[in-house]
Amino acid sequence: MVKIAPSILSADFSKLGDEIMETENSGADLIHIDVMDGHFVPNITIGPLVIEAISKFTNLPMNVHLMIENPSAYIETFAKALAKNDRDVSLDYLSFHIEAFYHSHRLLNKIRELGIKSGIALNPSTPLSSITHLLDSMDLLILMTVNPGFGGQSFIESMLPKIKEAKKLVRGSDIEILVDGGVSEKNIKKIRDAGADILVAGAAVYNDKASIKNNIIRLKALV
Ligand code: DX5
Ligand code: ZN
Repeated sequence: MVKIAPSILSADFSKLGDEIMETENSGADLIHIDVMDGHFVPNITIGPLVIEAISKFTNLPMNVHLMIENPSAYIETFAKALAKNDRDVSLDYLSFHIEAFYHSHRLLNKIRELGIKSGIALNPSTPLSSITHLLDSMDLLILMTVNPGFGGQSFIESMLPKIKEAKKLVRGSDIEILVDGGVSEKNIKKIRDAGADILVAGAAVYNDKASIKNNIIRLKALV
């Protein structure tokens, strides 16, 4: 069964706790959290203090997507933030971008040593050949299907073959493929068919056209 991971980047930050509780009660599988530093991407979002605060509002696994330079310097801080409120971090994911750090193999293993699922994210322009040596150290592969930095962008259609290739690459392993960016009612089925295991949806879940619940139900009905 494909998992839906609403990206809280598009939620109403003035009532984030309520929005997260509603997201969990609406059938979401994970909470996707976009951490941006204004350097790796041209936007600044949330940090470990906010992760600590929102962890009180959900029992769902947290899927932290670091879009920051030098992620190694912050891994332990984020691991601690996830562990607040006695949460079981073994179900959480902590992911960084391969373009942001030289020593990916070391950092993936460090995340696992901290008891968290390890993930690596690839920008649209980064080839799959960059991760072939990392397969034994990773639990999650994030394929960006927009240029990271903002919610509400359009899915880059030319990423579909990359998703299919990635599916072949991880065959025989437990690595999950997460597709992030521009997922909507229009394209969710073909993205799932291409091989995605987890689908992030920001604008498609938190837009004003319908409730969070209705949006999640509609997306789930299509896959
Ligand atoms: C973009 C973020 C995404 C984004 C997805 O840099 O990594 O997670 O919030 O939002 P939508 O689904 O609106 O493209
Ligand atoms: Zn993301």
